[in-house]
Amino acid sequence: MTRADWTDLADTTQAVHAGNALDGGSGAIRTPIVMANSYALPDDPSTMSWSGTETPLYTRNSGANQIGLQRKIAVLEHSEDSVVLASGVAALHAVFFTFLKSGDHVIVSDVSYEATYRLFTELFPEKYGIEADFVDTSDLDAVRAALRPTTRLVHIEAIANPTTKVTDVSGVAAIAHEAGALLSVDSTFTPPPFFRPLDHGADLSVHSLTKYINGHGDAMGGAVSGRRELIAQLKADAMVDVGGVISPFNAWLIMRGSVTLPLRLRQTFPTALRVAESLDADPRIAFVAYPGLAGHPQHDLATTQFGGAYGGVMSFAVDGGPEVQNAFVDALRIVTSAVSLGHDESLIVHVGTTGPRVAYYPDGFKTFGHLRFSIGLEDADDLIADLQQALDVAVGPLVG
Ligand SMILES: Cc1ncc(COP(=O)(O)O)c(C=O)c1O
Repeated sequence: MTRADWTDLADTTQAVHAGNALDGGSGAIRTPIVMANSYALPDDPSTMSWSGTETPLYTRNSGANQIGLQRKIAVLEHSEDSVVLASGVAALHAVFFTFLKSGDHVIVSDVSYEATYRLFTELFPEKYGIEADFVDTSDLDAVRAALRPTTRLVHIEAIANPTTKVTDVSGVAAIAHEAGALLSVDSTFTPPPFFRPLDHGADLSVHSLTKYINGHGDAMGGAVSGRRELIAQLKADAMVDVGGVISPFNAWLIMRGSVTLPLRLRQTFPTALRVAESLDADPRIAFVAYPGLAGHPQHDLATTQFGGAYGGVMSFAVDGGPEVQNAFVDALRIVTSAVSLGHDESLIVHVGTTGPRVAYYPDGFKTFGHLRFSIGLEDADDLIADLQQALDVAVGPLVG
């Protein structure tokens, strides 16, 4: 059975089937990995657009695995169309490169992924004369106050990396649109079906597919979803002409990994809440930043905006200096010390108190540094026991 459109079906059904196609040549029921980089031309190709992205032509425009994955991401994101690229950073750059020009102004969340921060502190201002203000986007008045007549884009993270600050997406969308600006949301921490920025008024939703959507830590990719005309512009400018295209193999791996996306989130997010509550109750922990905790500054907004789940990433610190954080990480037996997030296995990374972005972080992050902790698919009791035994080693057992 084939269906052109899976939009009326449940999340789990979409995650299995959307974008997949029977292979006419072999009869395979899964789109095979197509490594050929050119596709057969029609009898008269003389009027074809060599920049076209819809008909199979050349892998930098329209490879079979990339097209299938684009269809699937569009269905999952509730968008008219999507473009997939080589990495999450390629997707972020694609948005900024395509929709901004010299003299434009951008409002960027003051807590954002490192590459976003660097693009707007160094590369875009220095090379292209694009001006950026870093704003606390959880404060709608601050966003409004930062608008200029030249503001073309507001860029936020729904849950920000690494502080877990939550921004009111529909509130910021209204402000951006009144000013004639686009809103792009890096939704890497908030994958579908958990959250879809486009349903909340955003114009563009950006993902590092490397993270939850692939989910197995074995492929890199990025995606941007939105209205057809915006995605067409991204495909033409950032994909065909700049060339940050995804490899067929990575697109195929992400297609396969994403089959279990809704199931993985159902396992991971409740585990994350239990783990965060257990850390929060432990006197050996200096702080825990997780939107599911009642003490999180945007807990109420997170509850309404995300409908009762809070993601799978938290940041925390053990009460002590850098040597204590390192001893704790070293004592963990299940949790792996590595960058990245949204994988099947839990990952932790110790980040210190230096670096330009730290000025924007809450006090606990400035004092202790932080451990960014991405919860995987392991059993919640096993994870909590692992954290407890590592605290016993690094700090000492709880007394009483
Ligand atoms: C929020 C966020 N956006 C974008 C990226 C970049 O993704 P990639 O590593 O796939 O380029 C990351 C990577 O950690 C991220 O955490």
